[in-house]
This record gives sequence, structure tokens and C-alpha cells, in this order.
Amino acid sequence: MDSQLYWAIAERDIEIQNPITDRKLRLLDDYCDIRDGLRVLDIGCGKAWVLRQWAERYTIEGTGVDLNPSFLDVARRKRPAAGKLEFVEGTVKNFRAPQNSFDIVMCLGASFALDGFVSAVEWMMALAKPGGAIVIGDLTLKHRPHLHRSEWLPNDAIETMGVVERHGADVSAMISASDADFERYACHHRHATLRWCREHRDHPWQNAVLEKSNADWGYYLRTIRPLLGWTVYVGHKR
Ligand SMILES: C[S@@+](CC[C@H](N)C(=O)[O-])C[C@H]1O[C@@H](n2cnc3c(N)ncnc32)[C@H](O)[C@@H]1O
Repeated sequence: MDSQLYWAIAERDIEIQNPITDRKLRLLDDYCDIRDGLRVLDIGCGKAWVLRQWAERYTIEGTGVDLNPSFLDVARRKRPAAGKLEFVEGTVKNFRAPQNSFDIVMCLGASFALDGFVSAVEWMMALAKPGGAIVIGDLTLKHRPHLHRSEWLPNDAIETMGVVERHGADVSAMISASDADFERYACHHRHATLRWCREHRDHPWQNAVLEKSNADWGYYLRTIRPLLGWTVYVGHKR
């Protein structure tokens, strides 16, 4: 199965493709000191909700990069009132831009596309101007398990902030999903994929969609719900 098709099914009805709510994401306006004239890069932008709502209100120049054409179709659907946005379809690893060229470099839920959190921070720092903002949202370990678990677990918030700081940015703010926010996001995927399976019983990918939905739901119940959270870190390059 094409994994982009899976995500197009699972996230068909949502515009914010991460566990944080719109109200909390609006805190980024202050934390990034958003204003006219800024250049913003959004890696793995998906439907680009944050970029689009900034461009509605400010004359920013925004660039979004994403692999999934169905998400970029949504991102491109409406011309923003104030800013200029361009969307680049393809893998982020093929995206080239001069060093120190963006005021804000953002990556919400797509650090895996740059080989994980540490290399994503390194990559983002190179493209941010000195004083510019780095905005990175990812899974965070909330509770260390009492018993050894063989599966991969992310860093906790202190370790994660340490990574950003060691790469030359001061972390000034965090925005975290609540347990209820994360549950809503996971349930949305589950609901949308099961509904699609009911409606496409003869589709050649029905089994594969169901298998992935079951695996993701199991991961949510066994690992995310007891141990993990999702946090956006905002740092400013020194
Ligand atoms: C969890 S979604 C987050 C979308 C958006 N940043 C948001 O928070 O609403 C991850 C996004 O990364 C994109 N993606 C996955 N691999 C990618 C790659 N190699 N290059 C660019 N984008 C990628 C997916 O298509 C998806 O839109």
C-alpha cells in the first residue's frame, strides 16, 4: 500500500495534522514574534494550517515542502489575504536553500523525514537566520516505563531541549498536547480509517489499510497513552 494514500484517508477531514489544538497553536504568533515581511519555511507542511493562518494576517513569504500531493492540494486551495505562499512537492531532502535565509524554520511532526529529531534540528538551524526561530514538534517521553521495553522511545522534554540548545538555539517556549488532545487525534485516525474500510470492502488495499489502522491504534493504546506526549519546542538561534 502507498503510505501517502493511508495518510490521505486517515487525515482526510482534519487540517491540523498533529495532536495540538488550533487554540494552542495560535500561541506560536507570540512565541515566533510573527509580523509582516518574515520568511518562513515549513518542512513536512501537510495542509499547512499554521502557515496559511499566518499568511491570512501578515505579509509573510512562506514556503511549504511536502511529499503528499493531496495535502498540498488543500494547502494551495485558497490564496491567503496578505502573505505569499509557495508549496514544493517532494522529499525535504531534495529541498535546497541558502544557509541563514529564513526567519522561522518549522517542522511539526515530520522530523523522521530528516532522519530523526537530532539531524532535523541540525538541518533547520543551518537554514535559520541568527535570531530566527526554530519550531519543532514531536513525540516526547512523559513517563519512563518501570519495566524494560524493547521498543524505541523518544527523549523526554529536558533531553529534547538539551538537543536544541546544544545546536545553538535558546528554547524560550513549549506547547504541549494534553492527553485528551492526543486521544482526539488518534481517534480521528482510527475512526476515519475504519469508516473507509467499511465503505471500500472490495478495494485492493482494504486489508493493508485495516492492518496499519490496527497497528497504529495498538501503538496508541500500549505506548502513547501510558508514556508519551507531543510537544512543540520554540527556540531562537543565537
Ligand atoms: C504528521 S504530518 C504533519 C503535517 C503538518 N506539519 C501539520 O502539523 O499539520 C507529517 C507530514 O510530513 C510529510 N512527509 C513525510 N515524509 C516526508 C518527506 N520525506 N519530505 C517531505 N514531507 C514529508 C507527510 O506527507 C505529512 O504531511
